[in-house]
Amino acid sequence: MNHLEEIRAKLNIEEVVGSYIQLKKAGRNLKGLCPFHNDSRPSFTVSPEKGIAYCFSCNTGGDIFKFVQLIENVEFPEAVRILADRANVPLPDFKPQAHNQRLRIIEANGSATKFFQEQLDKDKRKYFLDRGLTEETIQKFRLGYAPDSYNSLKDHLVKIGYTEKEILDGGLLTQRSIADKNTYDKFRKRFVFPILDHQDNIVGFGGRIDGDGEPKYLNSPDTPAYNKSFVLYGLNWGKDMIKKEDLAIFVEGYMDVIAAHQAGTENTVATSGTALTIHQLKLIKRYTPNIAFSFDQDPAGLEATKRSIELAQEAEMNIKIIEVPLGKDPDECIKESPEKWKEAIINAVPVMDFYLSYSLKQFDRETLSGKKEIMNFMLPLIKQHKGEVEQNEYLERLALEIKTDIKLLWNDLKNLTLKKGYQPTTSSEPKTVPVKQIFSREEYLLGFIFQYPNSYSIVDENLIDSVPFDPNTEKFYKACKKVYNRLSAVGIEALREELDSEDHGKVEIYSLLIEEHYPDFADDAAEKEVMNLVSSINRSNLINVQKEYEFRIRAAKDSEEKTLLLNQYNQILKLKTKIN
Ligand code: UTP
Ligand code: MN
Repeated sequence: MNHLEEIRAKLNIEEVVGSYIQLKKAGRNLKGLCPFHNDSRPSFTVSPEKGIAYCFSCNTGGDIFKFVQLIENVEFPEAVRILADRANVPLPDFKPQAHNQRLRIIEANGSATKFFQEQLDKDKRKYFLDRGLTEETIQKFRLGYAPDSYNSLKDHLVKIGYTEKEILDGGLLTQRSIADKNTYDKFRKRFVFPILDHQDNIVGFGGRIDGDGEPKYLNSPDTPAYNKSFVLYGLNWGKDMIKKEDLAIFVEGYMDVIAAHQAGTENTVATSGTALTIHQLKLIKRYTPNIAFSFDQDPAGLEATKRSIELAQEAEMNIKIIEVPLGKDPDECIKESPEKWKEAIINAVPVMDFYLSYSLKQFDRETLSGKKEIMNFMLPLIKQHKGEVEQNEYLERLALEIKTDIKLLWNDLKNLTLKKGYQPTTSSEPKTVPVKQIFSREEYLLGFIFQYPNSYSIVDENLIDSVPFDPNTEKFYKACKKVYNRLSAVGIEALREELDSEDHGKVEIYSLLIEEHYPDFADDAAEKEVMNLVSSINRSNLINVQKEYEFRIRAAKDSEEKTLLLNQYNQILKLKTKIN
């Protein structure tokens, strides 16, 4: 067995895919929300029998290796490495690619983390302990300390073999200015939070000032190892719980994440030093479509909540808002009472409730102009809501709050026209709409052959193969014929040997296509469908050939050529009457 086969034997597709997205049983297969497009109902199919996972809406997927390549956005060798780790299969020839810049930075970050951890002496540790963190939590999040020095980290990393350029590229050093190329430690006199991506790579750092100073938090810049738009702090420790609870909680800061995890709500994540992005939402959507925002209640926090809601609506996620009691951030609330925090999660409110209280805070309901502003804000949002009952409920509450007659509000709502194509969004990210690929008849027919190999005899007898095929499928038909002539049956293993290895995956995809579209076909029903497909392929191919001959006959110059073509043309017409 080579190592690819060994990995394949040790891992099954449902476990690999299941570690990224939620799957539910659906007959002999499993289904989940497709991680590769904005999926609103589960269209990602996992077939344990065929060893593949595929979405027939956006036509993406394949075996475990292909799936990991796609979902982790890595090349084949990296996918093999990830799965080999998972399966505990040693890869004999694999040497860490020291020249790979990304890996070097991640390595250097690991060494820096150790260095920072060593600097967190008894005295400095007290800071975290005073903030309510346990020793275990400090270890788990690998918290550390960057000393008040311009070169201690740099000297340490250079001593253990990293170049100054590598450390600079990784964002741990900075330069004073373009003119002054001297480098020095970026993080100084700060408590350090290593930032791990969802695959446990240390990609960057956040540093909180020790004492007073600006900025309060300093973050690593984007580097070849760290793209902030794609990383969520806490996800590596939280993804299992997110799946289990079917909910991801978004908070604002590092300390909020850590406090929430320590309190047992490990399904909590934060962006680090950036606004929420669509990429981060897509990352979360692999684990759950349900999210709850718990941002600060100050004006900046409210704005952030509003923006995030719009983005999440665009990503078609289910959104709730957690209102942390006492106007505190989650970290402060949890320190005072973890129970209150958990209660707040349970009592998370729908977006509409949040908007109502937001607009009431934003505008003065006691003045006429304030009332107008509240209505201008709320009515379009209510109008977007489907269902008169729900609309009525919100209008009722609005009428009560601004002391207006609900009839007037209904009237305004009816007269309100939403801008065409109204999208409550400011994001410039184009929404990804899957283009539904239509599979050709030839591909369907191949699916039947692979799914019901006995039906090939019908194809062999009836398919007119003197006419051109769909060029993408021709090699598969040739392979089938070859195997059939040799073995009098289409054995899938023998077929694989006839095909190039890159075409192997297609065999499973075509046959899963049939399993999806013709569930639980009996053999005779399948044979009937095969015959229909064969006839229809013959017919349309013959029509095409007929047209081509008509054209060539008209264009023929000498009579000899014309006669030859006419002869062939008559043969085609004969065939045509035979199959009709
Ligand atoms: P906050 O200012 O709300 O801080 O920033 P906090 O989390 O309550 O911090 P503590 O409790 O005083 O330690 C929330 C998050 O915003 C980012 C950081 O990711 C921080 O965790 N931030 C804040 C920055 O990136 N830079 C800053 O200067 C401030
Ligand atoms: Mn705080």
